[in-house]
Amino acid sequence: MKKLVVFTGAGISAESGLKTFRDANGLWEEYNVMDVASIDAWYRDPQLVLRFYNQRRTQLGQVLPNAAHIALGELEKHFKVMVITQNVDDLHERGGSKNIIHLHGELRKVRSTEHPSLIYDIGYDEIGWGDTCDHGAQLRPHIVWFGEEVPQMEPAISECLDADIFIVIGTSLEVYPAASLVYYVPDHARKFYIDPKATSLSRVNNLTAITKTATEGMKDLMEILRQEYNFESQV
Ligand code: OAD
Repeated sequence: MKKLVVFTGAGISAESGLKTFRDANGLWEEYNVMDVASIDAWYRDPQLVLRFYNQRRTQLGQVLPNAAHIALGELEKHFKVMVITQNVDDLHERGGSKNIIHLHGELRKVRSTEHPSLIYDIGYDEIGWGDTCDHGAQLRPHIVWFGEEVPQMEPAISECLDADIFIVIGTSLEVYPAASLVYYVPDHARKFYIDPKATSLSRVNNLTAITKTATEGMKDLMEILRQEYNFESQV
């Protein structure tokens, strides 16, 4: 099977009802990113940070994967698929994808502030100031904040190095190091970029633009892949 690596951002979950960050009406218009999604914010006002992620987690429990997530799950029948996502939602999992690297962490998980290997899956529940790990230390969201390292970057890079097909979906490619992944994909790989704003960025990174929303763009892409790799699909 050919290896297909998918790199996703907030745009793939927009049609499920989750806001992106930098679009008009996006989350970073409502909040200052450094007030809620940075390690400094956690030290300064942890309760505000907890509230922000509690809201995101509650909302996540109320939305469903969309046709783009589901199409990526479907592609596992025909390709060796690796999803690398900047998203902290679980919509790829619920859409049927099995191999997922969460570069920026996971909303459903929290971890101990003093024993980082103690990670708990709390589903869509809230955590508060005073909620502790088994050793009594405060719990924090299992999120990679601005100002922190991206521990999954190395495994993500090695997945990109031998991709045959590379698909970018719904990301502004503005946040590093995540956005640098596109530069690790071999020249010979087929590269696509599905995003309503794809045209402006695709030339820079040598990606073939599919300038549509995730669900519409995935329909086009499935058709291209079906023709080039000769398989049948219900999606
Ligand atoms: P952005 O908000 O920066 O970009 C969202 C992208 O989604 C834009 O390129 C939009 O054009 C596109 N988009 C909007 N609606 C879409 C749709 N229906 N279908 C497809 N694409 C659509 O979000 P990210 O690139 O994911 O990190 O942001 C990267 C990181 O910045 C996030 O992981 C987060 C944020 O700060 C942290 O919080 C650490």
